[in-house]
Amino acid sequence: MKKVWLLTLTILSIVTLHAQNPFQITFGPYLQNVTEEGATVIWGTSGDALSWVEVAPDGNDHFYAEERPQFFQTKLGRRTVGKLHTVRIRDLQPGNFYRYRVCSKEVLEMNPAKVVYGTTICTDVFRHLPFRFKTRSADQDSLALVIVNDIHENSEMLGNLLADVKKGGYDFVFFNGDMVNNMSSEQQLINGFIGKSTKLFASEIPFYFARGNHETRGNFSDHYLDYFPTSTNEPYYAFRQGPVFFIVLDGGEDKPDSDIEYYGLADFDRYRADQVAWLKEVVATEAFRSAPFKVVITHVPPINTTWHGPLEVKKHFLPILNEAGVDLMICGHLHAYHYISAGESDCSFPVLINSNDASVSIRATSKSLNFKVQNAQKELVKEATLTK
Ligand SMILES: [Fe+2]
Repeated sequence: MKKVWLLTLTILSIVTLHAQNPFQITFGPYLQNVTEEGATVIWGTSGDALSWVEVAPDGNDHFYAEERPQFFQTKLGRRTVGKLHTVRIRDLQPGNFYRYRVCSKEVLEMNPAKVVYGTTICTDVFRHLPFRFKTRSADQDSLALVIVNDIHENSEMLGNLLADVKKGGYDFVFFNGDMVNNMSSEQQLINGFIGKSTKLFASEIPFYFARGNHETRGNFSDHYLDYFPTSTNEPYYAFRQGPVFFIVLDGGEDKPDSDIEYYGLADFDRYRADQVAWLKEVVATEAFRSAPFKVVITHVPPINTTWHGPLEVKKHFLPILNEAGVDLMICGHLHAYHYISAGESDCSFPVLINSNDASVSIRATSKSLNFKVQNAQKELVKEATLTK
């Protein structure tokens, strides 16, 4: 009798627990690495799941008009099961809009002989419109983006700075490093900025990331590319969209690798040196050379500070960039605004160092690149236009 009661109580506890914590999407979906032919969609679920993205072309027909192609996360030919879902949508056309929804099927039991599924959930396309995004194109005439940095988990500040992203018609948002204080858990990333970004724009407008020195810290920092995948599988990468070619560099940590703060775990001198060969290849490409505007985005500035990391950025990257015809470099890290005109420093191009409480919006065509720095009160700090 006692055993029956115990069993009943256990079953009731499991049922109650499940009722209290139903299978659900815990964060996202947010877009990453949107290219001319593909896009990566990332989201999390409260339990293990088999997940997929359904994609429809843009149009007035209902998402339910027909069965939509499904894309799964796969590894070595097998569909993967887990709580973090990273699905690459492929075979898209440049400069086109697409609609999508994400779906997750709960996995209750998984062993070689049997897989038991639970609830299937999808983002709503019945009461709400499906998510919609646009692939990038080298041929697009104009480009608009907005950059913020050094948010350090202040999601309220992030909300103030990026409240108008959807209204502003931006192609993407750029996070130029130190969005968190360190990387210790997934929840820290969600609370710090992914949650707010998803609420404001990130299911439909992608964000790109230039890693800051604070994202190199913490036991979870090895998972950086799981949440912010790039075309190179490194935090540094490059791409062209419309009239602008972007080079995204990773300056690593700011103090010497041997500093006590890093507890013997830093190896950034070699990491920065390794980027040099890659950077030389990038500036030699036709895509870079033919772009009307060339913009470098890097968290750690090569000037206005003499700490070790910035000096290394200056030593390794500046000689190449000075010869490459760069039009503008945008940095963060110093938590203060600086604008250094071309030739005023060791840089042959202007350097804009953005503060931690301001945004930089850029609008470019093949003839001009306009940038505006605005603080959290939307007051104009600086505006300039570079022309060709
Ligand atoms: Fe920093």
